[in-house]
Amino acid sequence: MCGITGYVGDGDCSAIVTKSLKNLEYRGYDSAGIALLDDVLHIHKQSGQIDDLTVPSIPNASCGIGHTRWSTHGAPTDANAHPHSDCTEQVAVVHNGIIDNYETFKQELRDSHTFTSETDTEVIAHLIEDELKNGVQLRDAVENVVSMLSGSFAIAVTAVGFDGIIAARQDSPLVIGHAADATFLGSDVTAFIEHTQTVTFLEDGDIAHIKADSVTIANGDEHVEREKQTVEWNADAAEKGGYDHYMRKEIHEQPHAVRQALSGRINELSGTVDLDLDLSEEYCKSIDEIQIIACGTSYYAGLYAAELLEQHADIRVSVHIASEYEFRANRDPWRTLVIAVTQSGETADTLRALRKADGAGARTIAVTNTVGSTMAREANDTVYIRSGPEIGVAATKTFASQVITLTLLTVYLGRQRNSLASSQASTILKELSAVPGAIQQVLDAESTVRETAEEFANSDAFFFIGRRYGHPVSLEGALKLKEISYDHAEGFAGGELKHGPLALVTENTPVLAILTEGTNAEDTLHNVKEVESRGAPVIGVTSEIDPNPVFDITFRVPEVGLMEPVVANVYLQLFAYHVADQKDRSIDKPRNLAKSVTVE
Ligand code: M6R
Repeated sequence: MCGITGYVGDGDCSAIVTKSLKNLEYRGYDSAGIALLDDVLHIHKQSGQIDDLTVPSIPNASCGIGHTRWSTHGAPTDANAHPHSDCTEQVAVVHNGIIDNYETFKQELRDSHTFTSETDTEVIAHLIEDELKNGVQLRDAVENVVSMLSGSFAIAVTAVGFDGIIAARQDSPLVIGHAADATFLGSDVTAFIEHTQTVTFLEDGDIAHIKADSVTIANGDEHVEREKQTVEWNADAAEKGGYDHYMRKEIHEQPHAVRQALSGRINELSGTVDLDLDLSEEYCKSIDEIQIIACGTSYYAGLYAAELLEQHADIRVSVHIASEYEFRANRDPWRTLVIAVTQSGETADTLRALRKADGAGARTIAVTNTVGSTMAREANDTVYIRSGPEIGVAATKTFASQVITLTLLTVYLGRQRNSLASSQASTILKELSAVPGAIQQVLDAESTVRETAEEFANSDAFFFIGRRYGHPVSLEGALKLKEISYDHAEGFAGGELKHGPLALVTENTPVLAILTEGTNAEDTLHNVKEVESRGAPVIGVTSEIDPNPVFDITFRVPEVGLMEPVVANVYLQLFAYHVADQKDRSIDKPRNLAKSVTVE
């Protein structure tokens, strides 16, 4: 996820801003850049590593802003790296988040301004340029421009002749650090933790003017005083934003990740979705079959999507483990749409399958997190899941973002094929919008999950059961637990228990059962009784069933329709995490596993 840094003071701006960018490296990035200000702006930026970014010392520089970029609009190129400037090179802007309405401004500004990047950010620099030309002061110029933008973003701006930095926050974090002789800015305190632990967190709508010895903040027409707080973290803890492991941090990032996946893409009122896909109605109606190709967690997201697509877009769907995939000669490539689901966009098995589909003449879509990845480049179309970087080997937030994005694709195809009424589509989109809040409720119940995980950590094995949408989630829950705790864990369709796995069930094999909307909960309840009568403790992950007589422990899932199993999965992630933590496993880097599996 992108990171912003800023520094105003008499120190060596170049060295300080470069170091604070290094501090933000853990967030993941594909390009980086810095703007330093003396009499002019000195902008240095490029794709690749911060270590490769050479920023000369500018002895009289009074301030600097820096940025690590995780591409969302435009590939990870030098030109798309931040900071961005205006036509006169008087203004430098860094930005996190997404400007939903940037295209409108880009069209309007195109004739009178020269754009040098594909980013949404650059419009901010040109809009500020116009304000300054009209005699507006930089602070007010930023305020005026921010009031025109929609989306979630944080920005930092400086300009020739200006004293300090203007920072603005709208649904994307920014924190100011107060030191004796300087002031810092960061996306989180990690950026400057070695200089100061005294901080002010900006709130939505805040515009701050940051100078070396003062900070003034306004929100709307009001001047506001924000509390100074002392951060308890040391530099080591802050590296993971205060979490012990990236995995736990990424589990907690899910509400934000889901919001990003939805941002600017849905219209609840009309029941429509905009995924920047150019698939004609005629083409969508001509599709006979969708083939989903993926591995591991992404495969389970694909299984979830298959249920959605069959139910709402009226399309026959087959889901293929990518390493097993063949494009069968009896399938018509013109009528087969192949969707590769892949967080990294680089998984060798999925890439090989994508190439097979492409070679057979099928149309392909990559659903991925990684801008500029091989599959994003090779597929005919790409839809980004916008999770931000995932560093822990165990996929967590990307599963949620994949399912959310594939749900959007389902609504898009269902509407194009006239198989999904606008009222039904509106209901699905409303449910999607409620997912971030529902996940937050689950995260707030983490202490109960931790206690449960501690109680059962030394079990012989763990089983997960669920039907329909609950089935891929049971498989994903088991995968998460086995890969980070090294315990035996398996997921089953509830109905399959009696066909074999029931022989494994004992008093020392807890069963985690998913009983929510979309999981045939009443039928799963029979399976719960089957395992209970063999003495197995049952943890019910449920929105549907009165818990008291049934489960040993209940994890409550907020009601969000067909998205409930995705929310239930957050309990399973936390359960896996705390079992593994109890055993002191190498959670972020489990043995024998790699984040991006680029070998077949
Ligand atoms: O990058 P991809 O989504 O293509 O990766 C596929 C699998 O390797 C991946 O989902 C793996 O199963 C997870 N790391 C498990 O948590």
